[in-house]
Amino acid sequence: MLPDSFIQELIAKNDIESVVSSYVSLKRRGRNLVGLCPFHGEKTPSFNLYPETASFYCFGCGAGGDVITFIKRIENLSYIDAVKFLADRVGMTMPEHTFDDGAAKQRVRILEANREAARLYHKCLYSETGKTALDYYHRRGYTDATIRHFGLGYAPDSFWFLRDELRKKGFHDEELRAAWLCGRSQKGSIYDLFRNRVMIPIIDVRGNVIAFGGRVLDDSKPKYLNSGETPVFKKTNNLFALNFAKQSGQKQLILCEGYMDVIALHQAGFTNAVAALGTSFTADHARLMARYTDEAILIFDADAAGQKGAQRAIGLLRDTGINIRLVSIPDGKDPDEFIKNNGPERFKLLLERSANDVEYRLIEVGKRHLLTTSDGKVNYLKDATALLAELHNPLEREVYATRLATELGVSKENVLLQINNQIKRRRKQQQERQMSQIVRRAETMQGKANPEAAKAVRGASAEEALLGILLLNPEFLATIEKELQPEQMITAFNRRLYETLLSRHHEAKFIELSYLAEEYEAEEMAYISKMVKDSRERVSSLTLDQARRYVQVIQHEHELRGLQNPEDLTPEQIQEKLKTMKQMKQ
Ligand code: UTP
Ligand code: MN
Repeated sequence: MLPDSFIQELIAKNDIESVVSSYVSLKRRGRNLVGLCPFHGEKTPSFNLYPETASFYCFGCGAGGDVITFIKRIENLSYIDAVKFLADRVGMTMPEHTFDDGAAKQRVRILEANREAARLYHKCLYSETGKTALDYYHRRGYTDATIRHFGLGYAPDSFWFLRDELRKKGFHDEELRAAWLCGRSQKGSIYDLFRNRVMIPIIDVRGNVIAFGGRVLDDSKPKYLNSGETPVFKKTNNLFALNFAKQSGQKQLILCEGYMDVIALHQAGFTNAVAALGTSFTADHARLMARYTDEAILIFDADAAGQKGAQRAIGLLRDTGINIRLVSIPDGKDPDEFIKNNGPERFKLLLERSANDVEYRLIEVGKRHLLTTSDGKVNYLKDATALLAELHNPLEREVYATRLATELGVSKENVLLQINNQIKRRRKQQQERQMSQIVRRAETMQGKANPEAAKAVRGASAEEALLGILLLNPEFLATIEKELQPEQMITAFNRRLYETLLSRHHEAKFIELSYLAEEYEAEEMAYISKMVKDSRERVSSLTLDQARRYVQVIQHEHELRGLQNPEDLTPEQIQEKLKTMKQMKQ
């Protein structure tokens, strides 16, 4: 356990606004700041930062918490590592003996095993056993300097090489399995997973060896074997060679498909190249890239799979708002081969000439229509304006609109008008999608935040509706307080929320979602924000009278529930209850 005083100092020194703004571009809105949430893809900001409570909350995905939680999630660290990260950031030294956290210890052991494994594989490459592997690298044109730089190696054709070496160094079988270096056979023996493969260590931005990719030396299958997920490795949270690329001093990142392409590009001087790790490109990858650059240059193979991959990556990267340029490689299959055949200078020209993806896609759209007919022209204009509507920058839209207008012989105003209509339509669709996403997430959140709600649907709905009204009209609290006791609330969570509102009301404090974020967990906040959202949608019934009707429903349900346990009641109490129930029905 870390001492409270240490955490207090850590939080005081790591001002949440400055920590978060190195990941999220924030705009001030009143007392708070808002931005695009780094934890889910979105185009309209729902990520809120509350400097007063040193907390954040996203109304879109329900992520929330303090500065340590933020670092935990965005850097994918354990609690203790997030604290360490923040301590490093402000030059504080960690108190000693704080690492008795089992999970943190295991992570350290896995990283140590990986580092040893990388060393052993590399050593093996330069031994007698590794001769064919070293020849393989050399034949592909990779120099010894490159091999050293990337720490490339060779896993010999043995089931026990790594196992035995690492056992000698004191690693336990369980650790080797957790690191995804060894497996266990049905008979229970431990064996190496990577055999007879050239080995590529995957190194994260902090310099840790977190995983491996291993390639066969011939045409056998599978071509690559990649580490599975482990406590230190999540495929979508890492890009191969990002550790080097982030230090390249270039303002762009080059995204290509394969490990070997990245290695070839770095060797040729393009040290800003990265690749996804043996998996297709995901939204996480896109956000990771956006954290390190404003512009991505995409190089995908010319084959159908490559083109499909490019379309996918373009969509995801566009969502993050960064610039995208596309490079297609003439009659070569991938950058590795292109550079080998044509040299770095020619590749550099390709990069410089790289069309940005809008032009590329406009050409693709153009190919689909017969521009000599007026029908074809109309349809082309429709598709092309839909495409241009995706551009965030109005200047860019204007440029392409002008070009399109000239090309089709129509007025620029006409083209811009169509684009704007498409933008409006897209925005509406997007809002609807986002809304239904929020609702869906909130519904699952409800299960976690208030599990009783499912068992008392009518009562819980009335409570939610009432609380929603009260959150929007805190002035009703003065009246409602006299009519509804917190004890009458049916579900414990809603009772707690009602009590919170009442006590804030008594202390004349603000009653606003952002102030509740301090007391309530992220999931609970998502549930509460759904109450507010639902109430806001029932605008016409946001009256004190309506609130009182909900109070009656709650009381009615409360009475009914009292009756369900008649043995707890005296006969007089039962009589009393029946009487009030009759009155309510009239
Ligand atoms: P490629 O088949 O294009 O491989 O797969 P490559 O990188 O060009 O390799 P060489 O030049 O043939 O040696 C691209 C990427 O897809 C993943 C790997 O990350 C690879 O770098 N992949 C491919 C796998 O994970 N497993 C496979 O079996 C194949
Ligand atoms: Mn290749």
